[in-house]
Amino acid sequence: MNGLTLKEVVLSEDDFQYISDIVYKHCGINLHTGKKELVRARLAKILRQGNFNNFQEYMRYVLEDKTGREFSVLIDSLSTNLTSFFREKQHFDFLKDNFLPALIERKKKDRNFRIRAWSAGCSSGEEVYSIAITLLEALSGQGQWDVKILGTDISTRMLDTARKGYYDEERVSSFLLQQRNKYLLSKRGNGRKVFEASKALRDIVVFRHLNLMEDWPIKGPLDFIFCRNVMIYFDKSTQQFLIDRYWDMLDSGAVLFTGHSESLTGIKHRFKYVQPTIYKKT
Ligand SMILES: C[S@@+](CC[C@H](N)C(=O)[O-])C[C@H]1O[C@@H](n2cnc3c(N)ncnc32)[C@H](O)[C@@H]1O
Repeated sequence: MNGLTLKEVVLSEDDFQYISDIVYKHCGINLHTGKKELVRARLAKILRQGNFNNFQEYMRYVLEDKTGREFSVLIDSLSTNLTSFFREKQHFDFLKDNFLPALIERKKKDRNFRIRAWSAGCSSGEEVYSIAITLLEALSGQGQWDVKILGTDISTRMLDTARKGYYDEERVSSFLLQQRNKYLLSKRGNGRKVFEASKALRDIVVFRHLNLMEDWPIKGPLDFIFCRNVMIYFDKSTQQFLIDRYWDMLDSGAVLFTGHSESLTGIKHRFKYVQPTIYKKT
């Protein structure tokens, strides 16, 4: 790396294949040829910071780290963690106006006050807290409910942020003011205004590290799953593998939400199409 600018660092085809195979096997992320420049650019920075001479030396270092921390850094640098509060608002509208009122009525009749939801690939937590707010609003004033929303991700760095539950002012701009005041506490942190998830939210969310390619130690059945903007990074066979497993985790009548560009076209499944990116287990 000595003397080279980041732009001049070359990633050979063999090194690219080697890295993409390892990443695919570990977490399903499909680094196809079109991603080569992204891989080169992102890893070149890490090579420079860590004073590695080449990609092989860096990958040896990653694989020799038995704590898995370096692997996590590698995956973090290659995946995108983009998220926001109430992203893809139509899903939260569907929960609020359609799905939750019916679910709550049905559960009340059955005297089953348990509601379980999962945000698979939750990144820094905004999705989980948005679900929590939507649920608390739907259940307002009805104390007997046992509600848990599980947020999982492969990135320990993102999970740390999610657990802290602190967000900058510009990140909470999509909130209705009344909801923001009700569910977030405004504070000053490092000289700037931050918003912190309230106890009411924290009481019903839980964050765990989970690689979607591995076992899912999750107690079902679940009432709904958000797996949004995650499967887009996987190939069809990995998507098929996940969709089959989501089906098994869900209760009958439960719903799966996918991201705006993730339809189930080309995947064999038994879900009933409700509206774009919303699928029901019947
Ligand atoms: C673009 S974010 C989506 C966040 C959120 N679901 C949303 O739509 O706003 C994708 C997340 O998937 C996570 N991810 C990627 N591969 C994963 C895997 N194999 N297991 C668990 N999480 C994974 C990434 O770490 C990242 O945080």
